[in-house]
Amino acid sequence: MRVFITRKIPENGIAILKNAGIQVDIYEGEEPPTKKIIIEGVKKADGLISLLSDPIDREVIDAGRQLKVIGNYAVGYNNIDIEYAKKRGIVVVNTPGVLTETTADLAFALILAAARRVVEGHKFVEAGLFRGWAPLLLLGRDVYGATLGIIGAGRIGQAVGKRARGFNMRILYYSRSRKPDFERETGAKYVSLETLLRESDVISIHVPLTPETKHLLGKREFEIMKDGAILVNTARGEVVEERWLIEALKKGKLFAAALDVFYGEPRINPELLKLKNVVLTPHIGSATETTRRKMAEMVCEDVHRVLMGEEPENRVV
Ligand code: NAP
Ligand code: GLV
Ligand code: GLV
Repeated sequence: MRVFITRKIPENGIAILKNAGIQVDIYEGEEPPTKKIIIEGVKKADGLISLLSDPIDREVIDAGRQLKVIGNYAVGYNNIDIEYAKKRGIVVVNTPGVLTETTADLAFALILAAARRVVEGHKFVEAGLFRGWAPLLLLGRDVYGATLGIIGAGRIGQAVGKRARGFNMRILYYSRSRKPDFERETGAKYVSLETLLRESDVISIHVPLTPETKHLLGKREFEIMKDGAILVNTARGEVVEERWLIEALKKGKLFAAALDVFYGEPRINPELLKLKNVVLTPHIGSATETTRRKMAEMVCEDVHRVLMGEEPENRVV
């Protein structure tokens, strides 16, 4: 049995496969592998472990003639043509749950950073501009007591909501289905997307990227947002039509935005880089040592299970 991994992941995961006598081939490059490299890699593989940045389309799936399982080292799997994998009888697994709290921590860090201008402040001090406490220096927005709008109240969205309780926030949420337990626990109110956009001081996105959620926030959605709102995106860049976000930031319609994910990443719209009222992080939502190790264990255990003919724990299709 052979498993191809498109990038080095924590050793504890790789050890699970090796200890089971599976040959592990790893792409050792520092940059994401090209499609050609992935195709070469899957040719002789029974299992593929991919990253969210690897497009696993028909061409790649077809190149894996003996492929039985694809393990995505992420919870989001919009990079994989799952319908086609299913058609070919290939099992797809992912890493839900283990990264929920870690990603919610980052979302909250971004909410606070954007509202309190933490990055602007850092740049100001770094540039040697701090001349002493000043009454009107870098005035931000209060998070405590503000209204938080959660778009997509799944695992991560709800975990952000639980953190918001400690900040005495009023919580609104819009999601595909109602979450009575979440409402009971946090006092969150289920509303339409329109109401959420009109009433929230802070909007945090937690839907997966699907054909339905692509461009969920476009021209009209930015128009109806509350003046001075803050938008945080730790889901996927393509949920937001970035040009309208940039316009809203330029016009001062939005107070700030904090983004961990970008439209067509790793390319960054140069307009975003020119703005002061943004906080930009390089897709590090799940990036803690502990969580990345748990993800490695989870994905390798499941790939191993499928290769042994067992049912995986985190099957997508
Ligand atoms: P999840 O538990 O599946 O939550 C997603 C939520 O979105 C669910 O409540 C779902 O509704 C809702 N939803 C799906 N489609 C919708 C639609 N069309 N309209 C409204 N709501 C919709 O997933 P999760 O574990 O919280 O992860 C969410 C996403 O975060 C991932 O897919 C990934 O893209 C992103 N992520 C990013 C990072 C990062 O590093 N920045 C890290 C982890 C995850 P139902 O409850 O009805 O299914
Ligand atoms: C990260 O973005 C993930 O989907 O796990
Ligand atoms: C600020 O540092 C204060 O003491 O108010």
